[in-house]
Order: sequence, then structure tokens, then C-alpha cells
Amino acid sequence: MVNGGARAVARCDELGVAPYSDAPDMLFRAFLTPAHAASLERIAQWMGEAGMHVELDGAANLIGRYEGLEADARALLIGSHIDSVRDAGRYDGPLGITLGIECVASLHAAGRRLPFAIEVIAFGDEEGSRFPASMFCSRAIAGTLDAGALDVADRDGILLDEARATFAPSPPLGGEGRGEGAVLETSTRSISGGFPLSQPSPPKGGEGFLAAAKRAGSAIAFLEAHIEQGPLLEAEGLALGLVTGIAAQLRFQVMIEGRAGHAGTNAMHLRRDALAGAAEAVLAVERIAREGGGDLVATVGRMAVGPGAVNVVPGRVDFSIDVRSGDEAARNEAAEKILDEIADLSDRRGLDFNIERVQDLPASPCDPKLMDLLGEAIAETGHPVRRLVSGAGHDAMVMSALCPTAMLFIRCKDGISHNPAESVTGEDADAALKAMRSFIDKLGESYGD
Ligand code: GLV
Ligand code: MN
Ligand code: MN
Repeated sequence: MVNGGARAVARCDELGVAPYSDAPDMLFRAFLTPAHAASLERIAQWMGEAGMHVELDGAANLIGRYEGLEADARALLIGSHIDSVRDAGRYDGPLGITLGIECVASLHAAGRRLPFAIEVIAFGDEEGSRFPASMFCSRAIAGTLDAGALDVADRDGILLDEARATFAPSPPLGGEGRGEGAVLETSTRSISGGFPLSQPSPPKGGEGFLAAAKRAGSAIAFLEAHIEQGPLLEAEGLALGLVTGIAAQLRFQVMIEGRAGHAGTNAMHLRRDALAGAAEAVLAVERIAREGGGDLVATVGRMAVGPGAVNVVPGRVDFSIDVRSGDEAARNEAAEKILDEIADLSDRRGLDFNIERVQDLPASPCDPKLMDLLGEAIAETGHPVRRLVSGAGHDAMVMSALCPTAMLFIRCKDGISHNPAESVTGEDADAALKAMRSFIDKLGESYGD
């Protein structure tokens, strides 16, 4: 029989191709797209089979709830994100969701209820692949979004509000594929698969996102399982890692403007080439991060050149900058230097520029008590407890505004992530599942102490 960990991995594999990807030749699942909707429909089915009541909240988070011994009990939240980067691996995000479902499935199969409810959450946007900022969904649940933050558009000019208002996954109807056309508009509807998927009326404007905030005190903890996305665990021959905290992140959107012109007639010394300026900026980003040392990293990962023709001097370039470190002061100092360099080079080259800070996520330590509990749970599975910091961002860093958080890392092959070569074994995922289940039991034993 397939173990729960292997099934969690296999489910990520299933979600790795169309219709769960928006691109036919790679995995790319951005926020509020048809692939996102299709994935939620499938996950809702798995949640239903595991004994959960399933809802889509106003921020497009899919939430499966397994009630505790008493109705309306506080909940342990478990989850991760369903969106992906472009040309992604299959496990960054979805594995934390499918493992959460496996935890509940095993409790359900044993007919067990705990003194608290469990909610498994599929957050919709952790990567920021579509809109300039990220983590809209966990920020909505944690109540850290303000209306201003929602005023963003994707590269096609579609506003976040508009995208949410037209996003309506349908419940999967037994025997009829994905139930195309069965748009949910009412509060609760039972379907032939035997579980309810409810969705509030389609939200207007940013209301849906703001209404998704959970009540302070309603969550006892948040647990996220995630592939490590780095090489440490594999190098040390370890299946699991205990995360102690997540590095601080800053994201900027930069626009450099020069003057577009004919590539054959504009003499070199008279040009105001926006791309040559941006190229200098990219090298400055790399140099400053290298000079900073330690765990400081900075990346330009996205760039658009306008007008983008072989025979036209580039008139405008838009690009992103992502700066991270476990040390917030070091991160801020590097960011200051980068912004100063962009100002200097623009002056020198006769360029205009605009820089917008689109995201500032502080470093987020995991909760010491939960870490101890998760450490004991890992040790019980026969795996040594290796503590490590996460350089990658996770929904857990946002959820820490709502409740204490814990994170479990799972070894991935060659430390590769954000790459289709991402790979994780069913065996390691099963070790993670055992640790999560034991963590849940321990939380149950100590609940109310
Ligand atoms: C997400 O993977 C991030 O760290 O940006
Ligand atoms: Mn990622
Ligand atoms: Mn991730």
C-alpha cells in the first residue's frame, strides 16, 4: 500500500501538468488563473475525502476544516501555497498542502478528534509570480493587509480586485470531470462527491481580501512543511530539518527611462540608453550583495525592455530587485547602497528613474515552544534534529502575525528548487508526515496547559 508521504508527493506530481498548469510545456501556476482554479477543485476533492468541510475565502484561500471534539474550537492551521514560479518544480508549496491533507486523512481514518480543529490551507499567492508583491493570501488571513496594498495590477493591467472578482472554481462533480460551468455563488452547496464546498458571494473590490482576516485567538498555531530548497540536509544525510526562522525580504520595482531612438543613427555619446543603465544597476546589485557577505543575497530576476526591438535604442526598462538576509540591518544597508547606485548611474547617464518598494517582510523567528515540540516529534521518528534558517520566504513568516509558527523542512535532491528538476522522495515525505502527526498529538496532549 502506498504510504501517506508517497501519496502526498504523487498528488503534487498530478498537479504538475495541465490543466493544473497555465502553460502547456512547463509548470506555471500563477494566482487567480484557470490553473489555480483547477488545482483548487482537485485539492477540494482530496480535502473532502479526508473528512474536511471545504471553503474558499474572500482572498481565494482554499480552507479545509476538520472539526475538533467540540464545534467552533480554535484551530491548528497547516498549509502552504499552491502558486508557482514560472517553469517551476512540483513540490515548492503543494507538498505542504498535500501533507496537511494526509495528516487529517489519518486522523479521520482512525476516527480521532482533537481538542482543537485542524484547518488545512492552500494559500493562493506566495511567489508573487503575477502581481508585483506577494503573500496576499496569507497576509489577508493574518490581517496584515491594508486596502492600499491591494491596489496592484499584473503585467496585462488586470487589477487584483478584478482578477479575484472573476475567479470562481467550481466543485468537482462526481463522474463529470471538473464540473465545468458549475459556478458557485451561494454560501454552501452539497455535491455528489459527498462534501460541501462553500464560497461567499464573489467579493467586490478589496473587500474579500480584508474580510478573510481570521479573528485573533482563533488559531493556536501554524505549521508549514516545505522542501528545503537548499543543499544542507542532503549534504548531511538528513531527511528533515527544523526551521528556526525565516530571512527578511525586501522587494523593489524599478523603472529606468532614457530615450528610444534609431539604432543606426544615434551616435554612442548622444544616447540615453535605458538598458545600458539597467545593466549597470544589475551589476551593482550583485557587487553590493557579494561585498555584504554572510547570508546577504540580492537578485534581479525579472526585466522588461521597451520598446524591445533589435534596431531601437532601449527607451525604458522595468526590473525587480529582491534583497534578503537573516539580519534586517544588513539587508537594509545593502538596499540603501543599491538605491544610491541607481541614482548615481542615472545622473551620470542622463536617465530618469523611479523606484517603488513593493514588499518589506521582516525576519520571522519560529516559536521556541513549537520548535521544541516539533524537534521532539522529529526525534521520535528516528531522525536527528537539525536546526536551520530559511533563506527562502514562506507563508509562515506572514502567519507569525496571527499565531505562533513552526516549519519543517524536507530534503530535496541536490538542493534544487524553483526549477523543474525539483525532486523529493516519498520516503522523506513520509518521515515528514510522521513528524507532523506526532507534533499534532503532542500539541493535543499539551493543549490547555
Ligand atoms: C519564494 O519562494 C521566495 O522565497 O521568494
Ligand atoms: Mn518558491
Ligand atoms: Mn514555497
